Amino acid sequence: MCVGAAPHKVGKASAIATSAMEFKLTKTVVIVGALVSGLAGCVGDAPQFVNPPAPDAAVELDERGLVRQQFEDNVVPLLTGYCAACHGEGGTGGGFMGGSDMYKTVLEWPNLISLRVPSASSLLSKGAHAGPAWQVDQKEIVRAWVQEESNLAPELEDTLETDPIIPVSGENSIDLSDVGLPGATITFRMEPLSSGMYLSRMSLNAGSQGIHIVHPTFVPWEGDSPAPDPVDRFSNVDIYAAALASESVGGGTLILVNTSSSAPISIRFTVAEEADAGQVILAGCEDVPSFTANAQPMLAQYCTSCHGGSDNGATNATDMTQLLDLSPTAQEAACGQILSRVNLLDSINSSIFLAAEPQSSLGHSFKLPDNATFLGFRDALTIWIAAEQAAISGN
Ligand code: HEC
Ligand code: HEC
Repeated sequence: MCVGAAPHKVGKASAIATSAMEFKLTKTVVIVGALVSGLAGCVGDAPQFVNPPAPDAAVELDERGLVRQQFEDNVVPLLTGYCAACHGEGGTGGGFMGGSDMYKTVLEWPNLISLRVPSASSLLSKGAHAGPAWQVDQKEIVRAWVQEESNLAPELEDTLETDPIIPVSGENSIDLSDVGLPGATITFRMEPLSSGMYLSRMSLNAGSQGIHIVHPTFVPWEGDSPAPDPVDRFSNVDIYAAALASESVGGGTLILVNTSSSAPISIRFTVAEEADAGQVILAGCEDVPSFTANAQPMLAQYCTSCHGGSDNGATNATDMTQLLDLSPTAQEAACGQILSRVNLLDSINSSIFLAAEPQSSLGHSFKLPDNATFLGFRDALTIWIAAEQAAISGN
């Protein structure tokens, strides 16, 4: 336990101390600090962590110098030729070419260069505006440089986090092989909001192995700075998906606010592991009688005509085949199926409500006829949801 990749990481971090990567640097240093203090028994080795081996740093500095040279030789002439009129110091379009060191200004300008997701760099993606779009060959030159910068950026090896993807309007899939779950994905639908994203139908999909995840946090990226969902709505999510099966994640919906709808997003976990059903405790309903008294009549009135089995699409999306059977076992099963469509931390944004709400942006073949009916429906189910919330918080 006294050895590890840490000395290498320190070498990397100190060699690439450009401010554009300050957050990573800080992060790495913090982790190293934790390693050192966490390894009190390895005191003799500690100086290794603090003083990186010089040769490694020298190599890194060389690579960094070459990439900077690539910027100066290939990118600067393009910027000067096509963009400088409006993007110099104090320019009308924002002075990302200004400052005493243009290279530094470009790297630090918000969202201009993304080292985590090069194609999300606005320097590449801006397109025609008051200024011109890049020609195809020019864009290739700029892209090649951004890619080289990205290759030099350190991996965030210390967190259990996927690579970011740039979500598209519609269906999206985040690959979980980065967190050690090959073949597994989290899929969701994204609808852009004026200052955020609305994610729905979120589903954890296992590959050929059963998987267990705990506490997924969605992390939008602003340039190279992570801005984790501050509400952290899925902090109580602890789910298991059997091999080749899919499970709804925390009620299936998530609204990310104060972020661009084109921001890349990644997902962090506190646990992501292969597992068998027997190893994880599956959460069920705590208050089935409250479900039967408050939620069942509403769902039976408005929803089972499609979700009770007659419409396969509806039943696969949300299964209510047990709902009309009032025996305790059937009610327990029905309750568990509806619970998987409820977000206990943010219940009004549960897909069970958004699907039926007349004004919601979630596409669904059926909407309750008016707002009053919807509120009556939601209030009734909320009595049961409050009972589930109280049960998990131990009240
Ligand atoms: C004729 C003036 C003009 C020229 C030339 C010009 N731009 Fe712009 N640019 C603007 C203006 C005005 C804005 C701010 C409004 C907007 O975002 O469209 C802007 C904004 C931008 C932004 C967003 C900056 C930010 O702070 O978010 C990027 C990126 C950008 N331009 C890239 C370029 C590139 C690359 C070139 C050269 C190929 C270029 N521009 C040439 C006028 C110009
Ligand atoms: C007219 C048929 C019909 C009725 C009635 C109906 N649904 Fe659906 N529902 C569907 C279909 C079809 C799907 C799957 C495809 C889709 O989402 O449009 C679905 C999907 C869903 C989903 C999954 C959406 C997601 O994002 O994962 C939820 C939740 C849902 N319905 C809730 C309800 C509720 C609550 C009611 C009663 C208020 C209801 N549905 C009534 C047809 C119906």
